[in-house]
Amino acid sequence: MALLSLRAILLTVAIVSTFIQSSWAKPLGTGIHKHHSLDTWFLVTEQSSYVISAAGNGYLVNMHWGKRLTQLDDLNAMVVEPPVFSQIIPVTEAREELPVFGGLRYRENILKVELPKGIRELNLQFAGNANITDKTKLDLDLRDGNRTEFLVTLHYEIDIENDIIRRSYTVRNGLDDRVDLSKASSAAWHLPYALGWDEQRELVTLSGEWSQEAMVQTTRLSPGVKHTVESTRGFADHVSHPYFALAQVPNAVNPTTDVYFGALAWTGSWEITIHTDTKGFVRVTGGIHHQDFGWTLEPGESFTTPVFAAGYTDQGIPGARHRMPRHARKYQKKNVATQKDENVFHPVLYNSWEAVSFDLNEEKQMALAEKAAPLGIELFVVDDGWFGVNSPRDNDTAGLGDWDTNPKKFPNGLKPLADHVHKLGMKFGLWFEGEMVNPDSDLYREHPEWVFHYDGVPEYLSRTQLVLNFGLKEVRDYIFEKVAGHIKEAGIDYIKWDFNRPMQGVTMHNYDRNPQEAWVLAVEGYYEIIARLKERFPHLWFESCSSGGGRMDLGALERTDQVWTSDNTRPDARLFIQYGASLWVPPRMQYGWVTDSSSDKSIEIPLSFRFHVSFMGSLGLGSNINKFSKEQLEESTHWIALYKKLRHVIQNGDLDWLVPPSRVGELVAVTESIYNDGDEAVILAFRHNSPFPDSGELSPIRIRHLDENAIYRVTIWQEDPQNPVDEYDLSGALLMYRGLELPSLNKGMFKSAVVWLQRA
Ligand SMILES: *[C@@H]1O[C@H](CO)[C@@H](O)[C@H](O)[C@H]1NC(C)=O
Ligand SMILES: *[C@@H]1O[C@H](CO)[C@@H](O)[C@H](O)[C@H]1NC(C)=O
Ligand SMILES: *[C@@H]1O[C@H](CO)[C@@H](O)[C@H](O)[C@H]1NC(C)=O
Repeated sequence: MALLSLRAILLTVAIVSTFIQSSWAKPLGTGIHKHHSLDTWFLVTEQSSYVISAAGNGYLVNMHWGKRLTQLDDLNAMVVEPPVFSQIIPVTEAREELPVFGGLRYRENILKVELPKGIRELNLQFAGNANITDKTKLDLDLRDGNRTEFLVTLHYEIDIENDIIRRSYTVRNGLDDRVDLSKASSAAWHLPYALGWDEQRELVTLSGEWSQEAMVQTTRLSPGVKHTVESTRGFADHVSHPYFALAQVPNAVNPTTDVYFGALAWTGSWEITIHTDTKGFVRVTGGIHHQDFGWTLEPGESFTTPVFAAGYTDQGIPGARHRMPRHARKYQKKNVATQKDENVFHPVLYNSWEAVSFDLNEEKQMALAEKAAPLGIELFVVDDGWFGVNSPRDNDTAGLGDWDTNPKKFPNGLKPLADHVHKLGMKFGLWFEGEMVNPDSDLYREHPEWVFHYDGVPEYLSRTQLVLNFGLKEVRDYIFEKVAGHIKEAGIDYIKWDFNRPMQGVTMHNYDRNPQEAWVLAVEGYYEIIARLKERFPHLWFESCSSGGGRMDLGALERTDQVWTSDNTRPDARLFIQYGASLWVPPRMQYGWVTDSSSDKSIEIPLSFRFHVSFMGSLGLGSNINKFSKEQLEESTHWIALYKKLRHVIQNGDLDWLVPPSRVGELVAVTESIYNDGDEAVILAFRHNSPFPDSGELSPIRIRHLDENAIYRVTIWQEDPQNPVDEYDLSGALLMYRGLELPSLNKGMFKSAVVWLQRA
């Protein structure tokens, strides 16, 4: 049955497309369009088209995703003849927009439900309703054949300038009995067939661990192999990141650099799977991790999946690296009030965590603030250690959960310090880890039932802490009031919200619904706290921090001001970490701290090199400035002043890696921030060492995206922020096609340079 109907769809489209040819000759504009007679929709962005159709027997299939089509009669070419062998099952092969568990479908599915009477299979077809809103949003209703009132609405939203499509769906239970969901991934994406027999695609993913996050991995796709990247820890963690890119490997016959890329907006457990069939046909699926997932829909209820955003570019990985961070920034601007104004820059931050750890009090922090302000610091953040009364937070074994100021460290509360910081002209920030509790805390002693646990099963400590159940309203309300109380009383401008251990014992008690819902409720609880804080305090900045590298998925990026890329602030390590994170994180959202840290004390990394690495996003300082010499303080002041002159380019521009960091030998890395259609650029160049005396000369670096006809003022700083080593004029063409010479990087260890290009 399914076999026949699917062949029929494809053939129907082939027939009607002949008719389209004559009636549609003009090119399609950007936006979402429906065909005038067929159930076929065209999602058109600046450079891509995404075409879906239910024109046959109602199965919704993808007809094209790739470079922008100019003519509708191109539909002819989209019709893929299904194989005719009796043993090949068309519905398994079909490019269904929502492949479910059910029928003769044997590839990756994204939705599995249990209907009444124990039926666990679905068969979804277009139900005839389609709504286009503002030319950028499309909703399509599907229903489970004509068997049941189980309804699904697919949601599409296009980001026209970034060539990205955001997908999610809502399932609705229109039956009189409950329906259980056991898998509800957000989307299935279908790539076109590879164009030639010897063509290959390379998968780009990110792996990591604490202090070594966002390591870029590349894997050739092989037929018959499925790759999965995932997190099962209950939060988007640093072991992987919900991002993928699939790049066509160019060869002599076909020099394309097509890249498909995507990111999930979900700060909980997630999975992305990339499956290649024998013909090289790739299906990408992803969403909330199905492991232990469960959600029950009572009659009339609905469930909406998180967004899976994906895009296409023919400009290779650099094109993908511009688009996804821009997309995240666009939605951040839309959703986060404090981020709307392009001219409000992320403040230069000071945080004493690496310098003093838990050893802090009012007097010492005031003294640090007095030292920080003259350096040009704009935001002073007090980290862990300021709280805990009966269980003082003097190390990581006690106090989490007790959000009252430690009376020994801050006898008058936080207001005197906050006032002092404000008087010095800086904003005041404070650290919280609101979803956590140490067993040694008043909160746990009073409410042991508030942590995730199973009755009668031991609780597993990690970093001597447990996770509060943010699925419970009373827990969220309690923590919210505590945090809000401090913000109001002390006048806090910025909070850093940490999350330092994985979840376990994730379930609900005394809950008349499915206890597996806890996985989703916990994440929604986090989102709710952010939203409530932002609503109560419209000027509050919120940093999503999770050790390093966690909670910086698209969902966190679209709700917060800032993320924390890594606890590893050693600059040469940071180059690799920032290289990976820059695939999807907007430059302004990443703080880079200049610190004293280096696990190898025999290595002296110059202050200039540390600053230059931290220039790549928003600048922070985490050194123990009490121990800085007069010269170091002065040098820091001038680097900070220079950064402020350049930050409109860095924070609002696009980041390119002209030379990606490589581990081979000498570690060279060069980035470019390009701003305002090539009016200005900032180049950051790094060289760890140059071991080869003769062949060690750095080739000229070819700059991108300049105006070839313009003349640029080139200013180069190296170790002295006050005195550029070079200043001259060059044409855009020369900078782009011959390159920028940086001979000063050729000798010595840890050499770096900052170059500012300004259209004359
Ligand atoms: C579209 O709008 C109609 C009428 O307002 C509504 O009945 C239908 O459910 C909507 N369909 C979708 C897919 O949103
Ligand atoms: C819908 O019901 C009709 C009549 O029972 C049946 O012939 C048809 O195959 C059904 N369609 C689907 C998609 O289940
Ligand atoms: C943590 O601090 C408490 C109280 O100051 C102290 O008794 C304990 O020994 C410390 N534990 C560790 C592991 O440092």
